[in-house]
Amino acid sequence: MAACRFRRSIAAQLSRVLEVPSENLVKSISAVPVSKKRQSGDFQFFVSSVLNANSNNYSRSDIQLQTERLAEKLKCDTVVKEISTGEGTVNFTIDRELLVKTVLQHVFEDGSQYGIRSELFSKLPKRKILVEFSSPNIAKKFHVGHLRSTIIGNFIANLNEAIGHQVTRINYLGDWGMQFGLLGAGFQWFGSEEKLKSNPLQHLFEVYVQVNKASAEDENIKKLAQDFFRKLEAREEQEVSLWQHFRDVSIEEYVQIYKRLGVCFDEYSGESFYQEKCQEVLKMLDRKGFLKKTEEGTGIVYLSEKGDPCTVMRSDGTSLYLTRDLAAAIDRMNKYNPDTMIYVTDKSQTPHFQQMFQILKLLGYEWMERCQHVPFGRVQGMKTRKGEVVFLEDVLDEACSMVLEKRASSKTTKEVDNTLETIERIGLAALIIQDFRGLLSSDYQFSWERVLQSRGDTGVFIQYTHARLHSLEEVCGTVSQVSHINTTFLQDPQAISLIQHLLRYDEVLYQSSQDLQPKHIVSYLLTLSHLAAAAHKMLPVKGSVPELAERQKKRDTERQHAGRNPHSDENYQLCMWLARICLFQAVRSVLANGMKLLGITPVNKM
Ligand code: ARG
Repeated sequence: MAACRFRRSIAAQLSRVLEVPSENLVKSISAVPVSKKRQSGDFQFFVSSVLNANSNNYSRSDIQLQTERLAEKLKCDTVVKEISTGEGTVNFTIDRELLVKTVLQHVFEDGSQYGIRSELFSKLPKRKILVEFSSPNIAKKFHVGHLRSTIIGNFIANLNEAIGHQVTRINYLGDWGMQFGLLGAGFQWFGSEEKLKSNPLQHLFEVYVQVNKASAEDENIKKLAQDFFRKLEAREEQEVSLWQHFRDVSIEEYVQIYKRLGVCFDEYSGESFYQEKCQEVLKMLDRKGFLKKTEEGTGIVYLSEKGDPCTVMRSDGTSLYLTRDLAAAIDRMNKYNPDTMIYVTDKSQTPHFQQMFQILKLLGYEWMERCQHVPFGRVQGMKTRKGEVVFLEDVLDEACSMVLEKRASSKTTKEVDNTLETIERIGLAALIIQDFRGLLSSDYQFSWERVLQSRGDTGVFIQYTHARLHSLEEVCGTVSQVSHINTTFLQDPQAISLIQHLLRYDEVLYQSSQDLQPKHIVSYLLTLSHLAAAAHKMLPVKGSVPELAERQKKRDTERQHAGRNPHSDENYQLCMWLARICLFQAVRSVLANGMKLLGITPVNKM
């Protein structure tokens, strides 16, 4: 990674002056974010990081004094060409040509590993990480929360896998409970085998709604449902086989939808798996003296003297959501022994996970420290024109039909071969970018108008930028080696801004990997797209790579033969175009890498 080389070199110098081991300094040196204001330096070192103990004891002017003193002691060298000071920072400007060359070289050499093959990650121990996400409830609505869980969990899994961890993706289906009693009892009246085959999720949901209504009016149906569920819990063959059928056809359809989203799972688990193991959890709680009974016979556990108790057992002895989660956690730990176990759900479930982790602690499972709940906020107003969102496809279909309409009315739309695939990728990018822009725990108001804007900070804009850069490669061809490029031709402010931005990629990935917030990567990619658009406008390219290279070679030899400087005007142009092509190619590569981490498949045409 390009930035590492510079960080190390700056750290070595600082280390001599400060007499601090250079490893301790590296993490306080970061690439300066590109901003509209004129930028001073490519890297900055935060001086407060080396002031003794906590820097709270230092006033601003103290820090500034130390900063100036430190800067005076540092010298320029072959890498650092300029040293200046900012607010509490010493700023370093790297030799321009070395900067451009190193960044481009690393982007080309590292390919999809650019930013990841960085010392920020190579020092991290490789871990086993379990990510549980999506987890819809069969026969119930797939609400917006499930969509968020799906794309956020997928991102967390992608990122962790990319940086070298071993990741297992689990879908913990809501595949147990009274809804199956109702479905089982009511399918004979309201169900159709045919519809179940062609449209399982939709059909089960419809049947569920109908039986639910009927059971409210008819005590008999209610009793039948209860009977069915009781038999199911007792694992009676006929009931289990119908339940299994419902579950199987549902998963089949889920898999198809997840495919459209580019999401897959290593394991389809579910609440149903833990029916029996729950009894063991209850026994354990009882044995250790934590299980108390209310007068009605409900099983409860007190986490503190004053707090409310958690219910872990119904009066009829059956388990609850919480009990099943306890059993599932214990089972997963036994099976996978992960270093981290992540649960992705909306924030209304935060108390549930807190209780669950606390009970695990009571039971003496110290590994509860390795469990982590990643909560996210609510989305308001995600509706389709037909009405409320009931299934995941509704959102995806609506996104696609809106993209399609916009494209039909736009003059710039290009003919593409597999339009449908492209449309889906654009629609999904729009949803993902909108969702990942803010802090995950924040609520946000959804607006189709906003997510589908082709300019501005949207997924459509990012896809558009990628497609534009890709078509540039199609027209001009691609450069295969940076060593052929003369980087003196990439010193325009627009080119330098892009290079400086590419320099920061590893730090941005690192930040997201630490707090599991995709927003750092999203804003990075949006800036990259804006910088690319500005550069594309100011730095045009004319000609194709083979033709340019050929012409350049010919010019060089002709000029050399004639004893003239090869840097003629024409030659200058040729070299410049080649260098620009190389820069845009690097930008597209990093843009595509980042998009894939977020769960977006880049489109090549739109
Ligand atoms: N099926 C649940 C729901 O839709 C989400 C499951 C979350 N995961 C868990 N281990 N509790 O609310």
